[in-house]
Amino acid sequence: MSQQIDHLLTEDRRFAPPADFVQNAVAKPGIYDEAADDRLSFWAARSRELLHWHTPFTNVLDWSNPPFAKWFDDGKLNVAYNCLDRHVEAGNGDRVAIHFEGEPGDSRSVTYAELTAEVKRVANVLAGLGVGQGDRVAIYLPMIPEAIASLLAVARLGAVHSVVFGGFSADSLRARIDDAGAKVVITADGGYRKGKASALKPAVDQALSDRGDGEQATVEKVLVVRRTEQEVEWTDGRDVWWHDVVPAASAEHEAEAFDAENPLFILYTSGTTGKPKGILHTSGGYLTQAAFTHRNVFDLHPETDVYWCTADIGWITGHSYVTYGPLANGATQVLYEGTPEFPEPGRWWDIIEKYGVSIFYTAPTAVRSFMKQGREIPQKRDLSSLRLLGSVGEPINPEAWMWFREVIGSGLTPIVDTWWQTETGAIMISALPGVTETKPGSAQVALPGVEIDVVDEKGEAVGNDAGGLLVVTDPWPSMLRGIWGDPDRFVETYWKMFADKGFYFAGDGARLDEDGDIWLLGRVDDVMNVSGHRLSTAEIESALVAHDATAEAAVVGASDETTGQAVVAFVILKESFLKDNSAEGLANTLRQWVGEQIGPIARPRDVYIVGELPKTRSGKIMRRLLRDVAEGREVGDTQTLADTAVMSVIARQVK
Ligand code: WTA
Repeated sequence: MSQQIDHLLTEDRRFAPPADFVQNAVAKPGIYDEAADDRLSFWAARSRELLHWHTPFTNVLDWSNPPFAKWFDDGKLNVAYNCLDRHVEAGNGDRVAIHFEGEPGDSRSVTYAELTAEVKRVANVLAGLGVGQGDRVAIYLPMIPEAIASLLAVARLGAVHSVVFGGFSADSLRARIDDAGAKVVITADGGYRKGKASALKPAVDQALSDRGDGEQATVEKVLVVRRTEQEVEWTDGRDVWWHDVVPAASAEHEAEAFDAENPLFILYTSGTTGKPKGILHTSGGYLTQAAFTHRNVFDLHPETDVYWCTADIGWITGHSYVTYGPLANGATQVLYEGTPEFPEPGRWWDIIEKYGVSIFYTAPTAVRSFMKQGREIPQKRDLSSLRLLGSVGEPINPEAWMWFREVIGSGLTPIVDTWWQTETGAIMISALPGVTETKPGSAQVALPGVEIDVVDEKGEAVGNDAGGLLVVTDPWPSMLRGIWGDPDRFVETYWKMFADKGFYFAGDGARLDEDGDIWLLGRVDDVMNVSGHRLSTAEIESALVAHDATAEAAVVGASDETTGQAVVAFVILKESFLKDNSAEGLANTLRQWVGEQIGPIARPRDVYIVGELPKTRSGKIMRRLLRDVAEGREVGDTQTLADTAVMSVIARQVK
């Protein structure tokens, strides 16, 4: 079967960066040439300029044993020193590192000097609990400053953190603890979500309890932050209160330098099925690309900007763009504990107004849910401090992009649509906001120093104005170094498809337009084949969202006797629209609309109006489950859904 993906949607809106933005931009147009001249020297120069190396490196890339890369491997550094101490030593200790906003409304601001002292104390505590270089520490915390301090304290010791998202169950936590062989868990009594104190410690207790298989957990100590004052069960000798030991610990701690390839963290991604993969990242290359992209893609001016990334630290975005990138660059950022809807819709806009946020990085799923609620809510707030918006996690449909720019960005702010993965560690494809003329819906171009192509199934470049498979053709500094404990699976999963070319295959479909700009088309597993045409989910979903009535849409291919597969759409309507219209009348209108927008071949066979879509906890639509419904099957494994009840509601609505 040809891997060529048909292209149907046309988008010709263009936005040049505002003149004052261009003038003060961090990244200038010459950066592309500099990287193209000599990619490795480019990265070496960025690393030396953005980081402090205790022992400077002389090697840049060692690719003698692909796909196992080493970057800067004869250099030594301390990641936490780079994120903390050096800013204090440079006289910026009084700069706020974190404006913390708790969901109940409590808030505190932590300076770089305070955060540095706190991390030193936590590092001393962890060392006292037996944590040393190479040991694994599981972190299961809400979005509170202690979470960031914990990651950095582990990094400071040359140990390895494995953050497990607070929404995961005791079983998921245990599986990740076991796989990594974690020695210590850092958790909290609980955190605030949707106006309630939700518990975390009981899940840790359950995870560590005897599971009847005779296997003892590897965990020796549990360090517990008090956040919600909920009652907790206590295991003497194992459990330690943070507030008993951290304030009493010494704030003196010398940051030891570790090898550039010292492991920094493991982060589990679920993949589509099966056992989660422990994606392994190391220190020097990862921090280089995290810092470089954070500074250039977000145009960070650390003295004046207030940056806010809404991702949870349980995801890669929370590692690279809440923790390491911003702190390495000495940024001031907002950290918010709760949900956008508490105490009422508009909380995020209140926070932007309160702190004067200038750079705002979020996910398309959030943007679409705000579109659903209506623009009146953000329009009641003063969002004039915003000067740059960013998007990550899924293709952002052109209409969602336009809404984001017009309603949140007052029609002026550049938007950077950033494509990357847990595996890539940092942003790979994005506009540079003072350089690139942006196109709604396109992630645009590979960053300087990153080599991307779109190829057919033989690995041949498809060229402009064609679709195919997205690959990374050359190693990059923040690339994953492997899957924890499973080198074969690493090779098999990412490198086997194009083994002869040495390409990394990302699993995504993409198209190059006539200018060579990249459009992400969704996961190739989700591509549909209708009468021999390979259609991308992203384009048809974008067409649906372009209709006034639609807030969000998911499209799947369901087997069909005549066409092989047929397009089936699940659509959420905007609330304003629901007030005046019946949902039922609309399915036909939307079918026709798609036919007009992108052609009869893409016209959905069925359009179902639903109230919710099945999403993972990081907000990605799980099309596999919708395919089950569309084909009339029993719905498959819903464990990784944020809300497991959603599928039964959808199945009922469809019937
Ligand atoms: C998707 C998140 C389109 C893509 C940082 C990728 C995107 C997967 C974009 C990785 C984007 C991420 N446009 N699709 N700007 N960003 N994706 O590991 O399918 O949670 O392979 O990392 O999200 O998801 P992950």
